[in-house]
Amino acid sequence: MDLNQSLVEANELFEAQAHIYRHVLNYTTSMSLGCALELGIPDIIHNHGKPITIQELVSKLNIPIEKTLHLQRLMRFLIHSNFFSLTKLHDQEDEGYILTTASKSWNPRMTCTVFDLLHVVADKIDTRNLKYVGGDMFSSIPSADVIFFKLKNVLHNWTDDNVLKILKRCRETIRLSGDKGKVIMIDIVLDEAQDRHEITETKMVFDVLMMVLVTGRERTKVEWEQLFLEAGFSQCKITPNFGMRSVMEVLP
Ligand SMILES: C[S@@+](CC[C@H](N)C(=O)[O-])C[C@H]1O[C@@H](n2cnc3c(N)ncnc32)[C@H](O)[C@@H]1O
Repeated sequence: MDLNQSLVEANELFEAQAHIYRHVLNYTTSMSLGCALELGIPDIIHNHGKPITIQELVSKLNIPIEKTLHLQRLMRFLIHSNFFSLTKLHDQEDEGYILTTASKSWNPRMTCTVFDLLHVVADKIDTRNLKYVGGDMFSSIPSADVIFFKLKNVLHNWTDDNVLKILKRCRETIRLSGDKGKVIMIDIVLDEAQDRHEITETKMVFDVLMMVLVTGRERTKVEWEQLFLEAGFSQCKITPNFGMRSVMEVLP
């Protein structure tokens, strides 16, 4: 084997290692986003009305100056994940944080309900625009304009029959909101024709896990669309650009 070939193989190995780390530690993105939301960073940037410097952000958050570097690292990660952006301040050397389309959708006037089994939310404390409700999604779902399946991977846990029951409950709830109602899900969509071989393999690993750990499965676009149709939804949009997962939006 010549030197060039060994270098290529070593690089592929390192890339594969980075790929595995990214997936194993994927929860860090949701943790960091949760932290930014809990601190109210999108609201602060929105209310500031212009790009906000790190010093201004530290002062608005009322946190010790020694935490500046920690906050800067959190923001750097969330910029990389496309939740914030940095822009040059007018006529100055400094840069300031601004919202992106993703963080603009976090409307300060919006109230969110986290709905889960009673014991999961029992000790959670409501905040100004976030409340926790315990219950069973097979019986009823609290009223909402938009139902968002918490971050990801809820429906793939369940059989087609159960997914249908959940989707029908969701549809009943959002229909009360008239035109505004929609259900948003982030879940795996199998697409052997489009996906890279490794991505399909990882999706299939999840399919096997769903088969042996619970009663669920991973589904193709056609299989998802069939379920949405059977549950009575009239329109569906599937956007496959969230790494392994797709965003699926359905309207009643
Ligand atoms: C696989 S986890 C969701 C994973 C999470 N979305 C994430 O991204 O890490 C499934 C969630 O559904 C909740 N759950 C299970 N059965 C439920 C039911 N009948 N009603 C409401 N929530 C339920 C579980 O407590 C759990 O929080």
